[in-house]
Amino acid sequence: MINRLRNPSRAPSFPATRLRRSRKTDWVRRMVAESRLTPDDLIQPIFLVEGDGEPQDIDSMPGIRRLPLEHALREAESAMRLGIPAVVLFPFTDPCLRTAGGEESYNPDNLICRATRAIKDAVPEIGIICDVALDPYTDHGHDGLLSEQGEILNDKTLTVLTRQALVQAQAGCDIIAPSDMMDGRVGVIRAALEKDGHHDTLIMSYAAKYASAFYGPFRDAVGSSSTLKGNKRSYQMDPANSDEALREVAMDIQEGADMILIKPGLPYLDIVRQVKDTFAMPTFAYQVSGEYAMIKAAAQRGWLSEEEAILESLTAFKRAGCDGVISYFAARAAVLLSV
Ligand code: PBG
Repeated sequence: MINRLRNPSRAPSFPATRLRRSRKTDWVRRMVAESRLTPDDLIQPIFLVEGDGEPQDIDSMPGIRRLPLEHALREAESAMRLGIPAVVLFPFTDPCLRTAGGEESYNPDNLICRATRAIKDAVPEIGIICDVALDPYTDHGHDGLLSEQGEILNDKTLTVLTRQALVQAQAGCDIIAPSDMMDGRVGVIRAALEKDGHHDTLIMSYAAKYASAFYGPFRDAVGSSSTLKGNKRSYQMDPANSDEALREVAMDIQEGADMILIKPGLPYLDIVRQVKDTFAMPTFAYQVSGEYAMIKAAAQRGWLSEEEAILESLTAFKRAGCDGVISYFAARAAVLLSV
């Protein structure tokens, strides 16, 4: 069939074939729909902030706020009720706790660990994903440790990332999600988890994470945009490459990843398709902060329909082969899907 379609002279022809027949009514469109978005496909990010004050607005992400723990608990509970299977936690680390070595990342009582324990306790039905990377904890905003010359120290960083992953697993995190793009991190984290008895802790590897302009608003949210020196091109991937993404994914699977993440989302759906077809692994994508901001900004100006853009973009992830999507629209989409 595929080959016949590729050969135009043998393709089905009009009027025997009228493709519009199966688009005519709502019921037939539903009947032939190839992909279906449900709340099961959605993962909600939550930004955390210390204290018991009010949630804090993030200017570049209208509608998303940094949440003190009490509010985060309510957000997790509401996500669970909407049928969302998991949340992913990100901290806004107090600036006075940010250091060159990112030591706060492996403090067993850091904001992420406290939130993980509290959510596990209050909403045990929802999965908790914790990001592993040093950027919310370093005073230079990089995901790894830097040498005096400002170069990333890959192997020294692995030690810190492993300690970070361990305190998260000990706090009850279900899925460790390394987003740092250091070479070898999945392997050392997997070995450490096994050794510490966390045999069932999943690893969702940000295997193909590109050096992207679309992370800008996220860096505002975690407070690393003003501190970040330089760029992340020595560890995040070149947007020009796709073969390299397959090599990244192959290595992470071999090192013990259970699930693969591609990031950003919409501009990289070709990578999603290739990864899904090549490895047949649970495959996820991240509709990142800049993608959220683009839809929000256009909708606020009345330039597009926000609700339609949300559901269309999320459905596109499914069509490309995603098993799920991390999206700042997750809760909103789950509400839209339930009506
Ligand atoms: C940190 C991290 C980033 C994102 C997720 N984890 C930012 C970065 O790599 O600079 C971006 C998510 C988003 O833009 O929504 N390693």
